[in-house]
Parts: sequence; C-alpha cells; structure tokens
Amino acid sequence: MADSNGDPGRAGRTAFRLLWPAALACLLLVLVLEETSLIRAFGLEPGDDDAMSAGMAVETLFWVFAAFTVVRWLDLLFWQGYVQKRTGVPVPKLLVDVTSVVVYLAALIVILSFVFDLPVTGLLTTSSIVIAVVGFALRNMISDVFTGVALGVERPFRIGDWIQLQDGKVGRVAMMNWRATRMVTRDEVTVVIPNSQLATEFFSNYSTPEPFFRDEITIVLDYAVTGWRVERLLLSAVLQVLESVELPREPKVRIDTFLAHGIRWELRYWVPDYLERERIRYQVQRNILRNLHFSGIRVPGERIELHTLPREQPQEDIDFLHAIELFAPLTDDELHAIEAKMERRLFRKGDPVVREGEEGSSLFIVKEGSLNVYVEGKDGVETQVNHLAPGSFFGEMSLLTGAPRGATVVPETDTVGFEITKEVLEDIIQARPELAEQLSETLAERQLRTRQAMAELDANTAEQRRRSMATEFLSGMMNFFRLKG
Ligand code: CMP
Repeated sequence: MADSNGDPGRAGRTAFRLLWPAALACLLLVLVLEETSLIRAFGLEPGDDDAMSAGMAVETLFWVFAAFTVVRWLDLLFWQGYVQKRTGVPVPKLLVDVTSVVVYLAALIVILSFVFDLPVTGLLTTSSIVIAVVGFALRNMISDVFTGVALGVERPFRIGDWIQLQDGKVGRVAMMNWRATRMVTRDEVTVVIPNSQLATEFFSNYSTPEPFFRDEITIVLDYAVTGWRVERLLLSAVLQVLESVELPREPKVRIDTFLAHGIRWELRYWVPDYLERERIRYQVQRNILRNLHFSGIRVPGERIELHTLPREQPQEDIDFLHAIELFAPLTDDELHAIEAKMERRLFRKGDPVVREGEEGSSLFIVKEGSLNVYVEGKDGVETQVNHLAPGSFFGEMSLLTGAPRGATVVPETDTVGFEITKEVLEDIIQARPELAEQLSETLAERQLRTRQAMAELDANTAEQRRRSMATEFLSGMMNFFRLKG
C-alpha cells in the first residue's frame, strides 16, 4: 500500500495488518462453505452433536474475524488513510471506537440469530434503546464530532482564512479540532464555534477561492452630476489608494438605483486581504470626500418636495484655485484674473498630457480624476515617481522657468483639469515681480520634498538645497519672464 511518507517498511507493515485478518476470514469462509464435506471427511455425520458444535464454532469464528477485518480496514483505510490525510488532524478515538462497537454489535446479532438460531428481537430492542439513550445524552457532542469530520473532509475553510458567520461576526480561523473551530476577531477576541453550528448555518469565506475579494461603497449624487464625472470622482478615489496597496483587479462604477433625490452609485473595488478592508475603505471614502470637495459636488439630502429644493451649486473655480498650494501668494484679484483666462480641459485616460523632454509653457491643475508621473531613468526605462490627485498641479517647472518638461504625465482615468498658460501668468508676474521670488520658494520646497522622500536628506543639507534651488528657479524665472533683477 502506498504510504504518504514513502516509508517502504511502514507500508509493508500496514499491508500485513490489512491482509492477515482478511486472509483468515477468507479461510474460515471456505471452512463454513465446505462444512458438510469436512465433517464427513472426519468420519462424522452432519446431524451429530460434535459436528454441529464444531460447525457453530467455525461459523462464530468466521463472523468474529469478518467483523475484525471490517474494523481494521475501516481504521487503516478510511479513518487514517483518507480522513486523517485529508484533514491533517488525527481522527478522534471516540469516533473510531463508536464505529468499531457498531460493527461488533452487528456481528454479535448475526451470530446469535444465524449461528445459534436465537430470537434477537428482544436484544435488538434493548440495544436500540441503549444506543438511543446514550446517543441522546451525547447528541451534541456526537453531532459536533461528525460535522467536524465532514468539515475536515470538505474543507470549506483553512487555518488563516477570514470567515463571517451568519450573525455577522468576522474572524480569522485560528484552530480547528473535532468539536469546535476557533476564530480570532479583529478586536483580538477568540470566538469558539461548535462544528455543528458551522454545518447548519451558512458562513462566508473571504479568503477563497482567491485571497482577495470585492468591497463596495455607495453614494447618492444629484441627477445633475453626469456619469463621466461620477466615474472620474469615484475611480480616481480608488486609484489614489494604489500608492500604498496593490489592488488585484480594476475598480468599477455602477448605478445601484434611481432615488427621488438622486442616483445611488456603487463603487466596486478589490481588497487584497480582509485585514486591510477597513483601512482601504476609510482611505477610499476620504478620497471620495476630497474629490467631491475639489469638484464642488455636494451630496443631496433626503428631499420631500422637489420643487422647493435648492439646485446643485457649482463650485466656483476661484474657490478651487484658493486650495492650490502654488497659488497661495496670489491675491483674490490675481486669482480672478487667472480664473477668467484658464481653460478647462478633458484628458483621456492613457493619453500623455505632457511628455518628458518636450517644450511647453503651461501649468495644469487637476480638478477631477488622477494621473501618474513617469521619469525616464539613465537606462531608458520609465519609472513612476508620483501620483497626482484632484487639487494637485503639474507642469509648473516649464511654465515658470522655460525648461523642457521634466516628466511624462499620463491620466489614469479620464481626467478634468485646467490649463494655465505662460501668457496668463505673465501679466501678473510683470505687475508684481516679488511674486517670482515667492513662487520659486514654493517650487523649491516641492522639489525638495520629492527628493527628500527619495534620498532621505538630513535637515541641514535639505535647507541648503532648498535655498540653492530657490535661487536657481528665481534666476530661471527672471530670465523667462524678462524681469529685471
Ligand atoms: P514640468 O517639468 O513642466 O512637466 C512635467 C511635470 O511633472 C513637472 O513639471 C512637474 O510638475 C511634474 N513632476 C515631475 N516630477 C514630479 C514628482 N516627482 N512629483 C510630482 N510631480 C512631478
């Protein structure tokens, strides 16, 4: 017989333990079948007392060895060979003993009834009553043990899987035995679930067939907000989380239902592990909030009389410009001048907005959607260096210093942004040259932050770098905007 450990000695011993009782039972069977001729061979008559006693002894022995063989085969082939190998847990002795007792009891009844011709109805009734009483007393335990076997064989979950019970409790499976399964919840509380409960109630397993699973967030938005905008808002909220987590599949946006006060949208996204669910959910929700803020979209409240309700108030682009870090030194009038001249642009997913090395003199501000920033290394390979969410800007280097584009910026989803050209800024900087200084400080700070994150510069070196970069940017801007020093 094959042995899982590949130990030939052990396999041989198992085969021997299986075969000898079977061989003996077969031999006894032959004796039983050939009983009459054997009795005659010994010079006896089949009706003699001695012959009958010998015949009954052989038949009894046959049934005893037949039962012994069944018990041995059940133990070695079914319990140890199949159940234990499949579950990886030793089979409880109680279970093996109960099945052995049942087999021997059946053999006893057969012997009494067929060999000794005794009436067994009374015995059957008594033993059934005993079995019923014992079974009733141990019913929960027996049910737990049997369902433990069934769960072990079926394996609807493994150690380490995240499961959710019918009552909503969620935990990671920590231990399974024949009576109960233990799981540890996210609050570090151990929950012990009797196996029979797991067999009768339904539960969900978040870890199979794949370790990742889908989660959803729903949000009600006004009918005035178009599907494209919603997709930009919601998809980019998930993609912004990608910086910290590798999400296994693409997020999707669907309409859940049409309500009186708006459309309920559903954002479906994939979570790599149940443990991350809450964290990712919170991050996505925060990003949605942030995107809504930058887009000026408000979530409609429950409305009773539609005709008296205020309409969606589009956010003024001037409010949006106020939130841009680069424009912090500008006055309201200057921001109004920019707002009047900037152009709203739709960038298609995958089409680069700016390419590294190309000439360009516009700055872009992200309003809805998200983009990735790539820089080409010395080996010619493009590496993603950043991710731009609503409220971020890019292209300021070329706009302010006239240098070629320092990176390639590609929309990850359809994205809406504003383009601010050099001409728009020129008038403002010409009228207030000290702005160049403040803008170059902001530029230097931003550049430094990226470099600091990458190279982990210490505080002193960082300050020196910041000053020298600000001076560099300022001279670039003075030159580009033809300012006098
Ligand atoms: P510019 O060089 O005009 O064009 C490419 C733009 O990508 C660049 O301006 C910056 O705005 C932006 N960019 C380059 N590197 C980074 C970075 N590490 N993080 C964020 N944005 C960047």
